[in-house]
Amino acid sequence: MRFAALVLSGVFMASVASAEEIKKVEIVDGAVQASLTGKPGDAVAGAKVFKGRRAGNCLACHGNKDMSGEQFHGETGPIMDGVADRYSTEQLRAIVVNSKKVFGDHTLMPAFYEVDRLSRVAKKFEGKTVLSAQQVEDVVAYLLTLKE
Ligand code: HEC
Repeated sequence: MRFAALVLSGVFMASVASAEEIKKVEIVDGAVQASLTGKPGDAVAGAKVFKGRRAGNCLACHGNKDMSGEQFHGETGPIMDGVADRYSTEQLRAIVVNSKKVFGDHTLMPAFYEVDRLSRVAKKFEGKTVLSAQQVEDVVAYLLTLKE
């Protein structure tokens, strides 16, 4: 019993730790200035987040010529070609973190690193965002390669 309790409390602690790792990210004027991880992301990993069905699944809504070999390009959101010419790194980071704070609550684009829900989910140890801080930075690094 005692052993089981110790194991359980270990799991408990691990969940709390992962919930606490989620940072508060402030979106000011449609931009997030600082990298969520403190360093630039990896564009190759970001491409996988972009097309990964279990990760960003961005391709489900955004056409992207760079991924013309992939199936199922969605048409819900704008085409991603040249998106790096339209937005800065800081703006792209804000769009991925929480597009609702950039485009408004009506947008169909999900918030991928949302902090508003945190207080509610953290209690249940579901303190997880759709993407990790690393994945946000990686997908931003990938978007920055999409120049016309
Ligand atoms: C459910 C559909 C959906 C998904 C999934 C989605 N988006 Fe979007 N996205 C949109 C829509 C719709 C817009 C247009 C914003 C608006 O509502 O005005 C948009 C806008 C954008 C923009 C601005 C584009 C421009 O040219 O103005 C970027 C950048 C972007 N999304 C990146 C992403 C990334 C990266 C992912 C995956 C992590 C993603 N989106 C996932 C629907 C989606």
